[in-house]
Amino acid sequence: MEIGLVTLLRAAWIAGILPILIVSIPSSRLSSFREVLLGFAKRGKIMQSSSCKFTVPQRFFCHFYAVAVVWTTILAVATWFYAYRMVPLVSEPLDYSTIASHLTGGSHIFSLNNSRSTIVRDRYRVWQSVFLLLLMEVQVLRRFLETIYVFKYSPSARMHVFGYLTGLFFYTAAPLSLCCTFAPEVLEFVENWVAEFIVKGRNRMPITEIDWWGLANPLLKLRWYSWIGLAIFLWGWIHQQRCHAILGSLRENTVHADEYVIPRGDWFEYVSSPHYLAEIVIYGGFVVACGGADLTIWLLFGFVVANLAFAAAETQKWYRLKFDNYPSNRFAIIPFVY
Ligand SMILES: NC(=O)c1ccc[n+]([C@@H]2O[C@H](COP(=O)([O-])OP(=O)(O)OC[C@H]3O[C@@H](n4cnc5c(N)ncnc54)[C@H](OP(=O)(O)O)[C@@H]3O)[C@@H](O)[C@H]2O)c1
Repeated sequence: MEIGLVTLLRAAWIAGILPILIVSIPSSRLSSFREVLLGFAKRGKIMQSSSCKFTVPQRFFCHFYAVAVVWTTILAVATWFYAYRMVPLVSEPLDYSTIASHLTGGSHIFSLNNSRSTIVRDRYRVWQSVFLLLLMEVQVLRRFLETIYVFKYSPSARMHVFGYLTGLFFYTAAPLSLCCTFAPEVLEFVENWVAEFIVKGRNRMPITEIDWWGLANPLLKLRWYSWIGLAIFLWGWIHQQRCHAILGSLRENTVHADEYVIPRGDWFEYVSSPHYLAEIVIYGGFVVACGGADLTIWLLFGFVVANLAFAAAETQKWYRLKFDNYPSNRFAIIPFVY
């Protein structure tokens, strides 16, 4: 089941990246395919307001984050509880394989054949997944609040229903990608725990009290690259928050609710879509936080880069057509490069 889930997620990210890579090849033969893909991907200001067929309001973006907050919370709590009960990061040479096998009904990760170094590495990886899920939680929670309180979506801004479904899929698959290696074990553990809880009742469960220090302490023992990943994540997170605040403030002094203005300040001085750039930095933080050793997270990152670079190129074109006085030194998404 684990191989199935990991393979499925990797295949999904590759299937998302490939069409964007194909249409980025400069060939006239691909122009109609490019138009189809653009039709699906366009939203807000870069989508023609006359084309309302198969579209939904752009303010439905909040649905993505509502789904993401609920789903990420479920995954984070379950994985954290699993890590706390099954793979505590303590230095004593405990026989985790036996405990894990006994409680989950047989876990291949902690099988008796595993060497001690593999067991230690896997223990760190479980806690690393908890760490990544907590970062994701911080990100989607802020995005959810922004879609409600910061952005002032214009009544005419829409997105294609395909883009809407892709968004829902993205925010289901992205948090899962951060913990997919252990997700089957976590599911089995939760199932066993719930079954035991039902049979024995609350008072007869083995541990009813939570040791809060034991819950948080292993997160402080993560490897150095997880902390560098956190710093990168926070760098992107802070700038995205600032750029979103700038975008949200642009309509404060305008007459019409769907008016567009040239944004200025923060990373807008360098690129036209700094909020997309910040998103790339945030997902880059995930890659670094796992030590660059997880192919699924690399592919998730690849999809975010491809998707947002594609949207940023269209945004750049739109700004240049719309405003004669648009700053010519602004790049689309990567300062001084693209
Ligand atoms: N992880 C991913 O793959 C992924 C995919 C998509 C988006 N995202 C993230 O979601 C966030 C929002 O993306 P988005 O594509 O919705 O951003 P967007 O198109 O720039 O729109 C964000 C908000 O700002 C308004 N706005 C944009 N430019 C404006 C201007 N020049 N003047 C006045 N108002 C302006 C929009 O108005 P309208 O209502 O008129 O459009 C909308 O309310 C970004 O940070 C992005 O990174 C992530």
